[in-house]
Amino acid sequence: MIFKFVKKSETDLFVLLHGTGGDETSLIDLGRLLHPDASLLGVRGNVNENGMNRFFKRLRPGVFDLDSLVKETNNLKFFLDDFLKEHHFKYANTVVIGYSNGANIIGSVIFHYGGLFKGVALLHPMVPIQNFDVKNQDSQNIFITASKSDPIVQASESSTLAEMLKTADAKVRLNWYSYGHNISEEELTDLSDWLSTI
Ligand code: MLT
Repeated sequence: MIFKFVKKSETDLFVLLHGTGGDETSLIDLGRLLHPDASLLGVRGNVNENGMNRFFKRLRPGVFDLDSLVKETNNLKFFLDDFLKEHHFKYANTVVIGYSNGANIIGSVIFHYGGLFKGVALLHPMVPIQNFDVKNQDSQNIFITASKSDPIVQASESSTLAEMLKTADAKVRLNWYSYGHNISEEELTDLSDWLSTI
């Protein structure tokens, strides 16, 4: 996968996954702001939709191509396995921050692979796969942001996702905002606060 790696800490790694139309650089400044000393790994989604990078194909807005989603879920997991090994990082010290489409792919990774990370921040995610038997999360820390006025994600879907992860033994914090599908200042303050607790 195409990525941008900013090496700092030998132990603390932030993995940053962009939304539709972003790239490996999109969330680097956000990562730096949240943890100036962490090493940062921005990853670019493998799929190109009319010139926009995505982490998996969709049939239409909000309707995912499940074959592509599963294939790219495994690709991302194997890429992270190799990257962490090569650079001597541990999953237990790795935090992932995914926005929108990036949140959906990492949501699928944890649905399939369970508790791996120190923490996972899902900013405006959807349920990646409905009626999925979510792998045990082993108390994995998960921060979810949602908005009742999000034109892309229904409020009920945010609540369902939080419940599915809680039922699978994740420690979930679900926070609501009023800025649609955008990342707000308030949300970043809460994300920073959540990071200080994990
Ligand atoms: C997706 O396709 O992953 C979601 O609809 C979010 C987005 O628009 O990227």
